[in-house]
Amino acid sequence: MSDLRPKRLLGKVVVVTGAARGQGAAEAEALAREGARVIATDVTDAPGCRRLDVTSDEEWSELAAELRHAYGGVQGLVNNAGITWRARLGEVRPDDFDRVHAVNVTGPLLGIQHLAPLMAPGSSIVNVGSTAALTGHYPVAYTASKWALRGLSKAAATELGPRGIRVNTIHPGYIETEMTASAAPAFREANIRETPLGRTGTVDEITPLVVFLLSAEASFITGAEIPVDGGLTAHGGVKSLSDALRS
Ligand code: NAI
Repeated sequence: MSDLRPKRLLGKVVVVTGAARGQGAAEAEALAREGARVIATDVTDAPGCRRLDVTSDEEWSELAAELRHAYGGVQGLVNNAGITWRARLGEVRPDDFDRVHAVNVTGPLLGIQHLAPLMAPGSSIVNVGSTAALTGHYPVAYTASKWALRGLSKAAATELGPRGIRVNTIHPGYIETEMTASAAPAFREANIRETPLGRTGTVDEITPLVVFLLSAEASFITGAEIPVDGGLTAHGGVKSLSDALRS
């Protein structure tokens, strides 16, 4: 049966980073289903993905020039690419700390710097944070980077608001992707114990919020931070996660 609902992102050009797999791939598909012209990008090769290392100023510059030439502008950006590094406070090395920061914070900064000039009023930027950005989660490089992303998002919302560009942050909880599959089973079990809804989430539970924030339905929402975490951060009970993994 064909879907007769009006498409909410018809004609919008939207860039998604880290779209080769996981949440980014699901976001790209969901945005396209709503009529967006999606530019799916990733540092790794994947069908339908254009190469973009989010840490490269030069590659962002090339992408911006291409988009200007091909479409004349951009209406959406999803800063989804991210990496984790599970070293604890006493073990994390400065170069790993910097590497995580480069992808998770400098990447979104460069994306905003290069694409915001192509954005007209009504455009929307979604940054993908994490429940780690709301807690004292133990992988300190990741946690610090996601807290920094919150600061970047707030500053960008303030700076770009007068131009009619909205900037919002979503905070996924434990979502079943390759990123979480690489963690110890105890991490998953402890997350489920700490999550009021008593389960993990799926990529398809992230995408509706991303679509909404990019659409005109969210026209008065900017600078917001929205957890999609089954209630994990509603009670502040992260200590047991760290305790469960310490042994
Ligand atoms: P994933 O590891 O499955 O996918 C991440 C994608 O980002 C990969 O395709 C990877 O190639 C790409 N990427 C990595 N470095 C890049 C770079 N320098 N330039 C361009 N692309 C790069 O992870 P997942 O779960 O889909 O994560 C997506 C976002 O959601 C990340 O920002 C992550 O921190 C965040 N997140 C994930 C959670 C989860 O439970 N899976 C929870 C909270 C936040």
